[in-house]
Amino acid sequence: MAAGSWIRRMFEEGTVLKQRYGEENVFDLSLGNPIVEPPVEFKQELKRLAEHPLPGMHRYMVNAGYPETRTAVAAGLSLETGIKFTMNDIVMTCGAAAALNVVLKTILNQGDEVIIFAPYFVEYRYYIDNHGGVAKVLPTDEQFIPRLDTLETAIGTKTKALIINSPNNPTGVVYSEDFLHRLGELLHKKETQYGTQIFLISDEAYRKIIYDGLKYPSVWHHHPQSIIGTSHSKDLALPGERIGYIAVHPDCSQREELVNGLIFCNRTLGYVNAPALMQHIVRHLQQVTVSVAEYQKKRDFLYDHLIAMGYSVVKPMGAFYMFPKSPLEDDVAFVMELQQWKVLTVPGSGFGTPGYFRISYCVDDRTLEGCLAGFKKVARKFNLR
Ligand SMILES: Cc1ncc(COP(=O)(O)O)c(C=O)c1O
Repeated sequence: MAAGSWIRRMFEEGTVLKQRYGEENVFDLSLGNPIVEPPVEFKQELKRLAEHPLPGMHRYMVNAGYPETRTAVAAGLSLETGIKFTMNDIVMTCGAAAALNVVLKTILNQGDEVIIFAPYFVEYRYYIDNHGGVAKVLPTDEQFIPRLDTLETAIGTKTKALIINSPNNPTGVVYSEDFLHRLGELLHKKETQYGTQIFLISDEAYRKIIYDGLKYPSVWHHHPQSIIGTSHSKDLALPGERIGYIAVHPDCSQREELVNGLIFCNRTLGYVNAPALMQHIVRHLQQVTVSVAEYQKKRDFLYDHLIAMGYSVVKPMGAFYMFPKSPLEDDVAFVMELQQWKVLTVPGSGFGTPGYFRISYCVDDRTLEGCLAGFKKVARKFNLR
């Protein structure tokens, strides 16, 4: 609990600062809780269901979720990727967090290794531990792309899976098609060498929040043992509603047994099924997304200002986070320094990568504008310019 509580700690310290100085004088960039409201289409569907309820719409259902919803998700994925998905490849879940837990519960035996790349979404370590796995943390390069040479030596007979996350929390980096191709080739080589299967688990919670007209490079064309876990927490701004899904590559070996395992674990982990009301709604919203342009505007505003002040930042291509280099070697001390100016961020140590800090820019414009003075003061203090 102590190791995994950085974001929580920032949240609590922020609460104290807000009580002391007033909400409007504290600039909280610590949480990944989108401030935008769900798209208008969401409210229309919600209203339509309230006014014209479907018979039995609040009852139990099959544990994988409504066939109509899974069919809609499969159709959306087929359109996006050119690969033919059917409802049998889809399991609806209580968000991406449940999706990842269900996948890990299904595939892991005690002591199996799961490779993750630092900086990582901090919960991965706990999710892997939940199901008897052992997290093996590997580094990324200066652009936060996993190093394939290190990966090659790290994969062994106990490697059951890798978790990748693109667009990435906390860096905002999107992995290229070329990178995924090389990753797929490496996994194939290692599977052949050891006679094993290595699952590529792709956490796509931010898949639809990508910038500059980029087309999303997906894992599907590069590794048949791929499984994605995702949600509508960010793309429809519904994190409190807990709706997401798992999709399995149609060419995955033992696909039917795997999907049956996922459905069983969705039930026995106690999720039972994804929320019924949300499933009824999102099946009509597979082509709908919050305004990505709005997030891109926020990224441009903050990135341009931080660069002008002398901060070193890899420009995010998606999600709504930035992961600048900490001007001090001690990232925790630096984050405390920013706190003196009432700017709240999270130290990179919380993501397994000391020497950096995370900014979450899914905040209102007042917060973005207000934080600049603090960043500027600290930049001057440490002679960035
Ligand atoms: C990388 C990543 N994966 C998974 C999740 C969990 O998403 P959900 O709310 O859909 O469970 C988050 C939430 O912030 C995230 O940042």
